[in-house]
Amino acid sequence: MQRRIYLSSPCMNGAEQEFIKEAFDTNWVAPLGKNVTEFENEIMAYSGVSGAVAMNAGTAAIHMALRAVGVTAGDVVFCQSLTFSASANPIVYQGATPVFIDSEPDTWNMSPEALKRAFKKYPHPKAVVVVHLYGTPAKMDEIMALCKEHNVPLIEDAAEGLGGSYKGKKLGAFGDFGIYSFNGNKIITTSGGGMLVGNDTEKLKTVLKWITQSREPAPWYQHEELGYNYRMSNIVAGIGRGQMTALVDHVAQKTKIYHTYKEAFCDLPVTMQPYLEETVPNHWLSVFTIDEGCDVSPLSIMETLQKENVESRPVWKPMHMQPFYASCDFFAHGEEGECISEDVFARGLCLPSDFYPQMTQKEQNEIIEIIKGLF
Ligand SMILES: Cc1ncc(COP(=O)(O)O)c(C=O)c1O
Repeated sequence: MQRRIYLSSPCMNGAEQEFIKEAFDTNWVAPLGKNVTEFENEIMAYSGVSGAVAMNAGTAAIHMALRAVGVTAGDVVFCQSLTFSASANPIVYQGATPVFIDSEPDTWNMSPEALKRAFKKYPHPKAVVVVHLYGTPAKMDEIMALCKEHNVPLIEDAAEGLGGSYKGKKLGAFGDFGIYSFNGNKIITTSGGGMLVGNDTEKLKTVLKWITQSREPAPWYQHEELGYNYRMSNIVAGIGRGQMTALVDHVAQKTKIYHTYKEAFCDLPVTMQPYLEETVPNHWLSVFTIDEGCDVSPLSIMETLQKENVESRPVWKPMHMQPFYASCDFFAHGEEGECISEDVFARGLCLPSDFYPQMTQKEQNEIIEIIKGLF
C-alpha cells in the first residue's frame, strides 16, 4: 500500500472550522459557550434524551455516571469484560470493585445468562455497566429486565455506539445514564471528548457542578463536595458540532465497509461480528473471528497487513484476563465455564475500517485480496 491505512482515523468535513472560527471571533474559547450548549442540544435531539453534559473524555462521563448513581468505596459494580479498560477503570476511581461479566455469542456483548448468575452471588451491586462493542447493540431487553428486577441502575457505555439503535431507539438512550466518546478514532471525534446523557435532568445539573470543580453558587469559591475539571472546551465542542453534520454519512460509510467485507469473505472460514435482526449497529469497526480449526491466526493476518502498511488489531483483551484486574470475580457465559469473551479475543481481528477518502474502495479491495491470499 502506498500510504498507511488506519483502523479508524478522524474524518473532518470542513464545517468544524466554521464553529471553531466563531468561537475564536467571539473569544469564547473557555470550557463554556454556544458550541458546548449547542453540541449538547444536538446530541440530545439525535439520541432522544432530555439531558446531556459534555466532558473532556468518555472516561470522565463513565466516572460521573457511577458517581451519579451513588457508587462509592466498597461497592460492587458489574461490568462487561470484553471492552476497553476505560469501561472499568472509573469503577476503581470510585473505590468500588468491578465484577466482570462474560459476553454472549450473538452480539459479543454482556451475557444475560452470566449476569443472572452474578446477581445470585452478588444480589446488591451498585450499578451495571453494559457496552455496545464496536458499535453493535447489546441485548438490551434482557439486560434491562434483570437490572429492573434487582433494582440496579444501568450505565450504558455507548462510547463506540453513537448512531446505532436497538428496536428503533438510539444507543445511549437506554440506561439510567449513557455515555459517548469523541476520542480521535470514534464515529465522530472532537479530537478528545465525551458526553453523559440521560433523562434525569436534575442529576445531570449536579454532574455539571461536579465537573466544574463543584463550585457552589456564592460570590467566593465555595465547595461542599469533591469536584473535577472534566468540562469540554468551547473549541472542542465546535469540532463536535461540525462532526454532527456528518454523523449519518459516517454510519453509512462504516456500514458499507462492514458489508463489503462480509460479502467478500463469504467463502472464507471467518465470521463477521454478528448482530441482532432488530438492531442497527453503527459498524464503527468491522471485526471478524476466524473459525475454529482454521490454522490462520489473527496475529499472522495482522503481521501480513502491517508489512503492507495496513493497520489492524486484535479484539479487546477481556478485562478479567488483564493482570490489573486478575483478582476480580468473573462470570462466564456457560454454566460449565464456557467463555465467549476469551474465545472472541483468541480468534478475533479488527479490520481496517477507515472513512473515505482515507481508505478508498480500491484500497479496501486490495486489503480483502491480501487477507484472502492467506487462507
Ligand atoms: C468502550 C469504551 N469505553 C470508554 C471509552 C473511553 O472514552 P474516552 O477515550 O473518550 O475517554 C472508550 C474509548 O476510548 C471505549 O472504546
